[in-house]
Amino acid sequence: MENTFSLDGKEIPFEPGQTVWDAAMAAGVYIPHLCHNPDYEPHSSCRLCTITVNGRPFAACTQPAVADQLVHNNTPELNAMRRTILQMLFVEGNHYCPSCEKSGNCKLQSSAYDLGMQDNHFPQLFPHREPDSSHPDVILDRDRCILCGLCVRVSRDVDKKSIFAIANRGIKSELIVNSPSGKLVDSKVSVDDEAMKVCPVGSLMIKRKGFEVPIGQRDYDKEPISVVSLRQFQGRKEGRHE
Ligand code: SF4
Ligand code: FES
Repeated sequence: MENTFSLDGKEIPFEPGQTVWDAAMAAGVYIPHLCHNPDYEPHSSCRLCTITVNGRPFAACTQPAVADQLVHNNTPELNAMRRTILQMLFVEGNHYCPSCEKSGNCKLQSSAYDLGMQDNHFPQLFPHREPDSSHPDVILDRDRCILCGLCVRVSRDVDKKSIFAIANRGIKSELIVNSPSGKLVDSKVSVDDEAMKVCPVGSLMIKRKGFEVPIGQRDYDKEPISVVSLRQFQGRKEGRHE
């Protein structure tokens, strides 16, 4: 007999070892996410994917699917909590979407649109964050970094270079570069690194690639992230990568 759990009242089949997020997305149910990329191990740091399982909150990207559990995802309460997470991310950094090269391809911006975030709600913190444009081919704009840790994990686990790390705690957290000077130019980073392809926002970028796709024609300009993510997830299962 097939294993299933209930997600917002719909029976979702799953394979042993799948997470709630994997099983839901495979069944065509979108769960918002920022720090998770299904090509890599989940990390559960941003908590945008928070669901409730039998009434208790968990991160869907790491929560194992278990038969007969009662999961809620698309509820007014959970979506309000997700908007609050997004609002906090917006005020903790310096995000200027209209002038950002990633606009239209940014998961933070598109998640905010998709979840109906209307304003920042909290006072803007305007932190001082040093950009690093020292490298000839890549740039790190810390103003836009949401500290999701994806580049940290991928540089360590896939590229085997451990170029990035998150230093300090709380509001003082920042992305640092592992090199003698702390600058990208003295690190082993390369444009071909997998870590250079995973940033969900416009923080880690490749130089001289700006505006190759015009504003208005980018993934999330055309469709909501919920639609794009589900299609990309399906394509990935079928061996297509968009
Ligand atoms: Fe995440 Fe991008 Fe910041 Fe790296 S640079 S931690 S991938 S937001
Ligand atoms: Fe699950 Fe970030 S996507 S915690």
